Amino acid sequence: MTPSYDVVVAGSVNADLVVRVARRPGPGETVLGSDLATFPGGKGANQAVAAARLGARTAFLGRVGSDAHGRLLRESLARDGVDLRHLRETDGPSGVALITVGPGGDNSIIVSPGANGRLDAEDVAEADGLLRSARVVSLQLEIPLPAVLAAARAARRVVFNLSPPAPVPAELLARCDPLVVNEHEAAFVLGDTGSPVRLARALLALGPRSVVITLGAEGAVAAGRDGDVTAIPSPRVEAVDTTGAGDAFTGALAWRLARGDKLPDATAFAARVGAATVRRPGAQSSYPRLTEVEGL
Ligand code: RIB
Repeated sequence: MTPSYDVVVAGSVNADLVVRVARRPGPGETVLGSDLATFPGGKGANQAVAAARLGARTAFLGRVGSDAHGRLLRESLARDGVDLRHLRETDGPSGVALITVGPGGDNSIIVSPGANGRLDAEDVAEADGLLRSARVVSLQLEIPLPAVLAAARAARRVVFNLSPPAPVPAELLARCDPLVVNEHEAAFVLGDTGSPVRLARALLALGPRSVVITLGAEGAVAAGRDGDVTAIPSPRVEAVDTTGAGDAFTGALAWRLARGDKLPDATAFAARVGAATVRRPGAQSSYPRLTEVEGL
């Protein structure tokens, strides 16, 4: 019998190749940066590790390559206790993210999808029992859209981070509870900007059951179908590296919703997790345990 999970993540897993720079080069320019650091990352794997490290029973559905990165990525998910029965291997390279981190902790990322691009609806169909057993299925857009849509169709509750931004069908939006975006992603979906409250209401009008907009150091807003919008502050922290903070936020949100928290409470908890992560370098390497979040 398939065990039941709090959170099942279907998504990407990348090796993050990170260089710190004083400033980013323009076209045709070369700049010197720090030594290269390699971290386990990928928006999907990051969500899974964030949830598992906080205490969620978590499983992951995805693809790694047959290269050395694939082995490292598998080991790192396993270390945090993520169930990997549905982590498949593809001949060829794993996903890789080329990341520069600036002096203020801001990041720029180029993703080469590698094996993530091979995750298909058949892989999702094989994991049907797993997806149906989960209280929450957490999704993002670094795997092909047909796989995301198939996973959403099998889910009891979908938490969907529309990142990196790309057009998605109305059916997927209608299954989100919540749709999670930052302000840039919200503006991409709406083709318009405005205050976070206005953006949240406009997104709700597109069909999701609820919406969360993340605002970095400013916290987040959470909006339910009833139109109630709650502003959630974030604890003040010094940012060293913001890479993967949104993924930690989403993984934590998924776990608290799986536990039965109301959306504003789950969002407030997720904002504290997001704040804890920016104080250390890397994505998964910076994610907190529950005791650290409680002390924040
Ligand atoms: O959101 C941060 C993540 O985006 C990184 O870990 C990188 O792998 C890219 O997927």
